[in-house]
Amino acid sequence: MANGMYEIISKKRDGLELSQEDIGFVISGYVRGDIPDYQVAAWLMAIYIRGLADRELADLTAIMLDSGDRIPLAAVEGKKIDKHSTGGVGDKISFVVAPLLAACGVRVPMLSGRGLGHTVGTLDKLEAIPGMNVFLTPDRFRQVLAETGMVICGQTDNIVPADKKLYALRDATATVSSIPLIASSIMSKKLALGSDGIVLDVKTGSGAFMKDEQDSIRLCRTMVAIGEKTGRPTLGIISSMDQPLGRAVGNSLEMIESIEALKGNGPEDIMQVTFALGWCMLRAAGQEMEYAKAVETFSAAIASGRALEVFRRFIAAQGGDARVCDDYSLLPACRHREELVAPQAGTVARIDSFEVGMAAIDTGAGRRRKEDAVAYGGGFVFHANVGDKVKKGQSLLTIHSDSGELLPAVRERLTAAIRIEAGPVAKPKMVLHLVDRNGITPWPY
Ligand code: URA
Repeated sequence: MANGMYEIISKKRDGLELSQEDIGFVISGYVRGDIPDYQVAAWLMAIYIRGLADRELADLTAIMLDSGDRIPLAAVEGKKIDKHSTGGVGDKISFVVAPLLAACGVRVPMLSGRGLGHTVGTLDKLEAIPGMNVFLTPDRFRQVLAETGMVICGQTDNIVPADKKLYALRDATATVSSIPLIASSIMSKKLALGSDGIVLDVKTGSGAFMKDEQDSIRLCRTMVAIGEKTGRPTLGIISSMDQPLGRAVGNSLEMIESIEALKGNGPEDIMQVTFALGWCMLRAAGQEMEYAKAVETFSAAIASGRALEVFRRFIAAQGGDARVCDDYSLLPACRHREELVAPQAGTVARIDSFEVGMAAIDTGAGRRRKEDAVAYGGGFVFHANVGDKVKKGQSLLTIHSDSGELLPAVRERLTAAIRIEAGPVAKPKMVLHLVDRNGITPWPY
């Protein structure tokens, strides 16, 4: 006889394995509204504490995936490779790597989200571009991908509805930070998109969702195993989120930095992560090549202007004003600008990216509540990064904000987030590990 919800909760609480039927019972019952929140919350907490065996995790992911629609991409020619980041502060890599790979013949479809917690969302950054439409029908999604080589749009309610409900419940019941629950949540959504391969950028450090490097590695390995089990080449990197990525944090500001990167003026850390992910995406597309050769290929696509041209066409195809690529004054900007200066001479030893992210939200660049309006021009541009020498009184960063009143609080947070030391400080390594079906390797390049 099939188990009821009480028996299923007890089973997991006692560390026993759930059958596929048990998991199906919970997910379909919850999506239909037949099982109350309090029972599913207890079940999630039992999973949080006891974990899931590989077979249970594969079943949970597949059942969540089956709870909604998919976006098939077989009709679009070429290899389609999805890139997913677990999110961080200043993470604008999608806007650089997607046009770059499209310029190299790989098609890049992505479903993205809004800001979570201390992060500014990819969709909000795109919406800084006047006219940009981030909600496309599946047909239009395929069309933009086929015409331009890339597409980025928001998740619809019909993709993995089980995750929508479960995520909201996890958020309210302290069960978000569970590796099997995060892995099934992310991978069910990745698998709903009919890509040929998946590349993951799992962030680690203060501004990451997973602060601990070993946890980030475990999460990445778990997601790689799920993707590979479905027959899609899946690999990923562990990259540092101990300081903000690049120099800009905010919507318009990050868009400008991304366009500059496509013009060949990207900061070193952005280009390191972009090239590492790009190389993984080529591998997932079946184009194995030496890393140095891949970097040469990418550099040529930037130098020739092909990558920027893809980005222009993508913006136009999604209704945006592609002139922003040449005229940054078309992007929203804030009224107030203020410098934060170094209180002493020395070397920048730490920029706490979590605190920088929270300060950016205070400028209006992100949302505290779902219904909050975004100040697209808000945020920061750093003039010094970890490892850079600074003089006393030198500007560390420029604050962009619409509300002068908030500036003292923003300044205070930023001042506490930045540490300057007397001695030399090494530049941090951005890409830490490669994770693929063979396991984990320290990033060698
Ligand atoms: N992002 C997701 O999509 N799901 C999680 O559980 C955590 C982060």
